[in-house]
Amino acid sequence: MKKITLKVNGKKTKHELDPEEPLLYVLREEFKLSGAKYGCGLHQCGACMVLVDDQAEPTCMNSCEYFEGKDIETIEHLSQNNKLHAVQKAFFEAQAAQCGYCLNGMLISAVALLRNIPQPNRLQIKDALQQVICRCGTHVRFIRAVENAIA
Ligand code: FES
Repeated sequence: MKKITLKVNGKKTKHELDPEEPLLYVLREEFKLSGAKYGCGLHQCGACMVLVDDQAEPTCMNSCEYFEGKDIETIEHLSQNNKLHAVQKAFFEAQAAQCGYCLNGMLISAVALLRNIPQPNRLQIKDALQQVICRCGTHVRFIRAVENAIA
């Protein structure tokens, strides 16, 4: 076990954690934040994506394999004061999700992209979203929804 200071959704907390334990489990079990999903557990599907703000530039990462990053933001923190984030709103209006399992990864990837590139082109949006697997094949709806969010 190792003492670690984490900032999750703006709140700093000290935890004694097994450094081998994936961040996803810590978020779901210790913090009761279930928005990030377990999909593959292999760092390949993006269902477990979270935002990380302690890198050189804000980014997103899969939380299932590694315990990286100490300033974490989850999907639960995107809407503020009962107001959806612009990307959440655009996804909802476009009815972009089908089964919804990839929704966390799609939202987090899109938000990370817009934090770094506020007016991305279609190729940049595709690049950002391709790290998330959508089993229903609705990538095009997600891409259009991100374009609507920045219009
Ligand atoms: Fe983490 Fe699939 S569950 S990438």
